[in-house]
Amino acid sequence: MSYNLLKGKRGIIFGALDENSIAWKTAERVHEEGGSIVLTNAPIAMRMGQINQLAEKTNSQVIPADATNLEDLENLVEKAMEILGGKLDFVLHSIGMSVNVRKGKHYTDQKYDWTHKGWDVSALSFHKTMQVLYKKDAMNEWGSIVALTYMAAQRVFPDYNDMADNKAYLESIARSFGYFFGKDKKVRVNTISQSPTPTTAGQGVKGFDGFISYADKMSPLGNATALDCANYTVSLFSDLTKRVTLQNLYNDGGFSNVGVSNEVMEAFMKE
Ligand SMILES: NC(=O)c1ccc[n+]([C@@H]2O[C@H](COP(=O)([O-])OP(=O)(O)OC[C@H]3O[C@@H](n4cnc5c(N)ncnc54)[C@H](O)[C@@H]3O)[C@@H](O)[C@H]2O)c1
Repeated sequence: MSYNLLKGKRGIIFGALDENSIAWKTAERVHEEGGSIVLTNAPIAMRMGQINQLAEKTNSQVIPADATNLEDLENLVEKAMEILGGKLDFVLHSIGMSVNVRKGKHYTDQKYDWTHKGWDVSALSFHKTMQVLYKKDAMNEWGSIVALTYMAAQRVFPDYNDMADNKAYLESIARSFGYFFGKDKKVRVNTISQSPTPTTAGQGVKGFDGFISYADKMSPLGNATALDCANYTVSLFSDLTKRVTLQNLYNDGGFSNVGVSNEVMEAFMKE
């Protein structure tokens, strides 16, 4: 269903890799709600070519950018404003990658070059993106910037590895930069803390299948899907949430406030 919530609004969506990506679903929903988009992803992700299908479907153009590279980000923001015909109203940062996770390095045995790379891609890229937007004065007043995160920033999930630290840093950047973006440009900045979701990045985490079922059984409303996350993001891009800022917002079916559920208890009860 469409409510025309983003009619006349324009923005950039990072991180649509394939149709499972949260950014993919978000681009589809933003388009349905009347928003105009520029899509972007790392040049290496372009090789898979799937993003072009999304571009066609959402009537948008694709500009490659490595989100750790300032020149790429500057080019992206300038071109996006040219293509879309003015300043931006929304930006979605949907980027995450840990080399230690990918290569099976345990948290207690990090290779620090990889830790650094993962932090740059997953956390610092959010600061870089906002700094470029801020310096170029690229956001319209009452615009909205959202990044995606996970609850391992607050609580221990052993196999989430160094991504837990990256997410804690990302959430802090949202608050710190959000202060200046709010004061100086009237732009809001928030993170959405999403349930485990079966995507390429999600499934890279060891034991993901057990993890996703456990979260589902713990959450009174069940796990939030990628589409749920897309819908929540649309609401944060819309004018209906104008003074929501500096927040880490849980989209997790209630998981974060549950101590234990009956289903999980039952699994431990003796007959
Ligand atoms: N899937 C989950 O369980 C889950 C849960 C909570 C939060 N998140 C977060 O949601 C976001 C999106 O992930 P997803 O689950 O849709 O997976 P995904 O694998 O579809 O998306 C991750 C994206 O990051 C992009 N990326 C990696 N390095 C990049 C770089 N240098 N520059 C630009 N882009 C780069 C990838 O190309 C990919 O498109 C991530 O921040 C992730 O941590 C995911």
